[in-house]
Amino acid sequence: MSDTGALVYVVDDDVSAREGVARLIRSAGVMTRTFASGEEFLAAPRPETPGCLVLDVNLPGLNGLDVQEKLAKSGPQLPIVFLTGHGDIPMSVRAVKAGAAEFLTKPVDDEALMSAIWRCITSSVEEEIRSGQNGRNGEVSKLEEIYLDDEICLDRNLGNMVGQGLGFQSILKSIQIVAPTDSTVLVLGETGTGKELVAQAIHELSPRRKGNFVKVNCAAIPASLLESELFGHEKGSFTGAVAQKLGRFELAHKGTLFLDEIGEMPLELQPKLLRAIQDQEFERVGGTRTIRTDVRFVAATNRDLKAMVDENEFRADLYYRLHVFPMSVPPLRERREDIPLLTRYFVKKHAQRMGRAIDRIPASAMEALTRYAWPGNIRELQNVLERSVILTHGNALEIIMPDLGEMSGSHVLSICGSKTSPSSERQAIIKALEDANGLVGGASGAAARLGLKRTTLQSRMRKLNIARQYR
Ligand SMILES: Nc1ncnc2c1ncn2[C@@H]1O[C@H](COP(=O)(O)OP(=O)(O)OP(=O)(O)O)[C@@H](O)[C@H]1O
Ligand SMILES: [Mg+2]
Repeated sequence: MSDTGALVYVVDDDVSAREGVARLIRSAGVMTRTFASGEEFLAAPRPETPGCLVLDVNLPGLNGLDVQEKLAKSGPQLPIVFLTGHGDIPMSVRAVKAGAAEFLTKPVDDEALMSAIWRCITSSVEEEIRSGQNGRNGEVSKLEEIYLDDEICLDRNLGNMVGQGLGFQSILKSIQIVAPTDSTVLVLGETGTGKELVAQAIHELSPRRKGNFVKVNCAAIPASLLESELFGHEKGSFTGAVAQKLGRFELAHKGTLFLDEIGEMPLELQPKLLRAIQDQEFERVGGTRTIRTDVRFVAATNRDLKAMVDENEFRADLYYRLHVFPMSVPPLRERREDIPLLTRYFVKKHAQRMGRAIDRIPASAMEALTRYAWPGNIRELQNVLERSVILTHGNALEIIMPDLGEMSGSHVLSICGSKTSPSSERQAIIKALEDANGLVGGASGAAARLGLKRTTLQSRMRKLNIARQYR
């Protein structure tokens, strides 16, 4: 397996515990270095790579807390996962007070440990990016007229993803760290934030890039057909099964399976999915032979899966299996610093495609673009810019904002970085539905008005309990 660039130190005097933890970390594709004592660890050189320390509390000589204290004095922070035996509560309280990132009691469950390690690695990456930039986050540089003559550098492996702010950089870094491993990734984020691009980038940067990237949109396939889509079926297993069919699990063998909108996975199918993820085996619908695969999983959702678990709408065991490496893609309104670059990128792309001689974006247009709340995120921005390019006749982009002139209207879910509350989202959806005469889909439907996909809007409507009279 290739190297993620991260390094995890393991300090434990018990050789079998130490080697067990190191094996787990290595099997996730992450490099590790082991030490039998705190003294040994502190004396060893530490390269400045992202990573963390898995530290046993009860050590001969310097104990875990002493190591933590000495480390805190010695320069850049290394997040710590403390491991302790039962009954060490005073110890754990002290460690947490001193800034321990995670605290786990032995014997530790592999999944819980690996997920704590991933959290620490991610936080060390974020820290590194933050300290390198001295807090230039969230600010949009002075809005001036933008000229479209200079090139935008894109990394094709990263699916032509564009961005420059801290939020974006930390996504890229997380992708680079997790891609080479076989860990399951859960991509979280609102609609249109780029979750699918993230999933593709993870595949492209993984050793599986020569295999298939297979996508299943759990919201777009009727529940009754989803099982056979995923696992395939044998001839004659149900009416209409006229021939044997391979499921997407089999098509993704040696590649990556992207389970999009995983929150819409029917409850009754979840145990079979869990088994397929955990044991890499399943049977086709109507079949008895067990099929084994070698598949890496990336799942995505715009729903709050944890809340669904609490409401018994999603199985807890599947949730924990998927939650090993969660990645949140922030909404566009929380990374407005990316809007100028994204705008240049999309305007150039569409102008070139349509043969328009647009060479600049006026400051007033940039101002409108950075102020709007973008409930449909990057997809909505892209749609707005495409429409604007079509309607521009001169050399300067004429911007056609969604419901221009209604910047204080209910389509503007929030201005400048505040989170969308369910009630404002509800109002915005109802307003869009009313404007669209109750129509959800189609070119003039509410989904298009909000820059959302029809299925996404329908799932939001279900979640927010918005009446079924809207179709
Ligand atoms: N960083 C980015 N740079 C350039 N284009 C982007 C970026 N992020 C997203 N896009 C574009 O925005 C659109 C939406 O992205 P994507 O389909 O990945 O979003 P999503 O989060 O999967 O949305 P949904 O929840 O609705 O499925 C796509 O056309 C994609 O190419
Ligand atoms: Mg998507």
